[in-house]
Amino acid sequence: MPRASIVVVGAGVTGLTAATLLQQEYPNVAITIVAAETPMPSTSLNDTPSADYASMWAGAHYRPIHPLTTPQLQFEHKLGMHAAGIMRRIARENPEAGVAEMPAMEYFQKPAPELLRMTTGDVYAWPGDGFRVLEKHELPRDAAWGCEYQSYCINVPVYCRWLMDRFLAKGGRVIRRRLSSVGEAFVVAGEDQLVVNCSGRNIGTDPKVKIIRGQTVLVKQQYHRTITWQRADGTWAFLIPRPNGGGTIVGGTKELDDWESAPRDETRERLLRRCVESFPDFVKTVEEFVVLKDNVGRRPWREGGYRFEIEQIAPGKTIVHGYGAGGRGYELSWGAAGKILELAKEVLGGKAKL
Ligand SMILES: Cc1cc2nc3c(=O)[nH]c(=O)nc-3n(C[C@H](O)[C@H](O)[C@H](O)COP(=O)(O)OP(=O)(O)OC[C@H]3O[C@@H](n4cnc5c(N)ncnc54)[C@H](O)[C@@H]3O)c2cc1C
Ligand SMILES: *[C@@H]1O[C@H](CO)[C@@H](O)[C@H](O)[C@H]1NC(C)=O
Repeated sequence: MPRASIVVVGAGVTGLTAATLLQQEYPNVAITIVAAETPMPSTSLNDTPSADYASMWAGAHYRPIHPLTTPQLQFEHKLGMHAAGIMRRIARENPEAGVAEMPAMEYFQKPAPELLRMTTGDVYAWPGDGFRVLEKHELPRDAAWGCEYQSYCINVPVYCRWLMDRFLAKGGRVIRRRLSSVGEAFVVAGEDQLVVNCSGRNIGTDPKVKIIRGQTVLVKQQYHRTITWQRADGTWAFLIPRPNGGGTIVGGTKELDDWESAPRDETRERLLRRCVESFPDFVKTVEEFVVLKDNVGRRPWREGGYRFEIEQIAPGKTIVHGYGAGGRGYELSWGAAGKILELAKEVLGGKAKL
């Protein structure tokens, strides 16, 4: 029997996290990541990954998912709580990874009914998160509800690079290559080996996959907490500090099926102006901002949420799917990777002693 191996397609946060868990579970199995784009060796601002490589363009912060809504959100709530535990440990033990705990605040003009039922002391981000409903006088003039709690933020290029470096240091392999199909990964893996599909959205034709364009501005000024202001018209303003002195992400847009990959000047103007109006304790005038970079990314959104599934595409060719993270790929990453590992174990079954 040939030496067992696993190929993970994709080096976004989903593929990197799944590869990390697979490597822990199967230390003696050759694990290879194949991806068209991978985290850059430096965190230089001149690196320009494509808008399709969503993981390079995220904020990223953790905004908890309220547990009492749809089954999909209940499931994602669980993934998010699980991921939060691991992210907090990384923040404590590996400050170089670019993850840090931080206070969080949210304002809503038209809060969902389940939020209105929450009270101070409830668990939102994790047990002991200091959740508190804001008093009326603490809210901006046109906000109806708000809360504060403890959360975490991620400096995404630093974090992805850190995940990949650890994977490499433990003997993992990374191949930079664009595949024309996930099936092509069996050329690298060999038949009867396992291929994990964490390609985000660029391979194949899953009709449930759509893109949601996001434009944000990275500014040099460093805010001290993450804050989100959601208006009734569906627009929102947010600030996400990048740990380790990475500046602050001023955001942002959510534009379904908008394929413009260049930043729009008028969007940048609007985001900065709205930031000044919404968060008066940050930067006082638009002119004061030191803009480091305009960001445009395509969130790999999938109707109904992630696809976690085992699929045999031909005899000897089994794929574990793990894609469709949408706008929460970081917040859910460790939960999603756990799900992928579960499916991989199912496939490898008897071979798991490898
Ligand atoms: C503006 C913005 C803000 C966001 N904020 C947050 C946030 O605050 N919190 C949060 O959790 N998430 C946030 N997200 C969402 C997050 O970025 C995504 O959910 C996450 O990055 C998805 O990761 P992924 O690994 O599934 O996909 P991707 O990062 O897109 O990775 C896909 C991988 O597959 C590879 N690939 C694709 N096609 C091929 C091919 N044909 N051959 C070989 N390789 C291929 C790519 O090269 C890449 O390596 C935000 C996104 C945007 C755009
Ligand atoms: C793999 O993932 C992509 C999303 O990038 C999806 O469209 C495709 O159906 C999946 N499966 C295969 C076999 O490519």
